[in-house]
Amino acid sequence: MDRLSILGNGPLEGRIPISGAKNSALKLMAAALLCEQPLVLTGMPNLADTRFMARLLQSLGVNVEWPTGEALCRMHAESVTSTIAPYDLVRKMRATFNVLGPLLARVGHATVSLPGGCAIGARPVDLHLKAFEAMGADIVIEEGYVKAAALRGLKGAHIVFPFVSVGATEHAMLAAVLAQGETILENAACEPEIADLANCLNTVGAKITGAGTPTIHIKGVAKLGGGRYDVIADRIEAGTYAIAAAATGGDVFLEGARGEDMGALIDSLQHAGVTVDIADKGIRIRRDGKALQAVDIDTRPHPGFPTDLQAQFMALMTIANGTSTIRENIFENRFMHAPELNRLGADITVRGSEAIVRGAPKLHGAQVMATDLRASVSLVIAALVAEGETMVNRVYHLDRGFERLEEKLGRCGAKIRRLDGSA
Ligand code: EPZ
Repeated sequence: MDRLSILGNGPLEGRIPISGAKNSALKLMAAALLCEQPLVLTGMPNLADTRFMARLLQSLGVNVEWPTGEALCRMHAESVTSTIAPYDLVRKMRATFNVLGPLLARVGHATVSLPGGCAIGARPVDLHLKAFEAMGADIVIEEGYVKAAALRGLKGAHIVFPFVSVGATEHAMLAAVLAQGETILENAACEPEIADLANCLNTVGAKITGAGTPTIHIKGVAKLGGGRYDVIADRIEAGTYAIAAAATGGDVFLEGARGEDMGALIDSLQHAGVTVDIADKGIRIRRDGKALQAVDIDTRPHPGFPTDLQAQFMALMTIANGTSTIRENIFENRFMHAPELNRLGADITVRGSEAIVRGAPKLHGAQVMATDLRASVSLVIAALVAEGETMVNRVYHLDRGFERLEEKLGRCGAKIRRLDGSA
């Protein structure tokens, strides 16, 4: 398994291009299953997860043309030849579960493995399944598989989610676009990726309004055509580099980052003493020698502070003046990075869904291990400010969600090197 060697060496300075959003791209790829004509996505992030989704789509009969390293991916689901997503594929990446709704809508049936839990929590899919049932699907769960059928087609429904779920909102939307009649989703998630999915679906002929607000209206259409769509910039990648720039006391321009999607993080950074300038083409982050101040955060659905930036912000708070309280409200087990940050000299105590971070004057390099994607990158941020060398093990987590991380950080002055697992 590859490892990253990082030498803490001062401020990051330069420009970092922000890639297309992983968590949007994965759902846009699932949308290709609904389209009878080619769907061409530009700004596609080249990641282990998106490449993996491409392989799943191919196994379902989608013709995927996506040359290595390219940002343009062409998918044509002229016909769907399989409606089964087996355990091995869904276990490796939960977002593959999102093919269930499109298969059900396009073909009338699907058999998809239940995703099961993961490192950050149990993560059930009950809201997804209830939404499909409300649209008239028959669902049985047998031997770990969801078997769903709507042989006469899905029907529009009025669905009120009991709490906000990004995945259930997207999945219900993916199924409802081809349902007969209108679907109304209430208490829908408002994440920018929801609006991105709706915009993409509308480009190929869907009729969705209200995406990005808590109430979404979807008028079902008989079929979807094809089109070309540019994936939204990754607000989590941008936020991660913003925090890295702040932590190192640097000055970085995040090319393509969208300030309007990053309000909660920007507020927290400003409270911590970081200067944030939002421009048309990106965001400049700098901390000109000013000391970092402790700030409390509380993760919430958008527009609240994103859970996907909680680990990174915790890394920043480890070197702030004062004590910060970080509360995780979305996932039950998302503090696995805390003991690893403590190995680097941080002072973090976890009590249930709360972490108390007492700012330390400095961190020092050590061997650390990551448990999930965002936890891994929080260790990279801490390593950039630690004295000496840090070795981050299990780098494959990073490859799932950060495109060319070493190159992007390296160009801004970081001393970061990938070591072959056998070395
Ligand atoms: C998406 O996960 C993202 N993943 C996550 O990013 C992100 O952390 C999360 O949204 C919240 O923003 C992708 O987009 C691929 P949810 P998702 O449904 O859709 C519970 C990353 O690092 N729940 O909003 O799975 C659930 O367990 C990843 O990139 C149910 O109980 O998140 C959680 O506690 C990690 N039943 C809460 O709701 C359901 O049917 C919110 O989950 C669905 C969800």
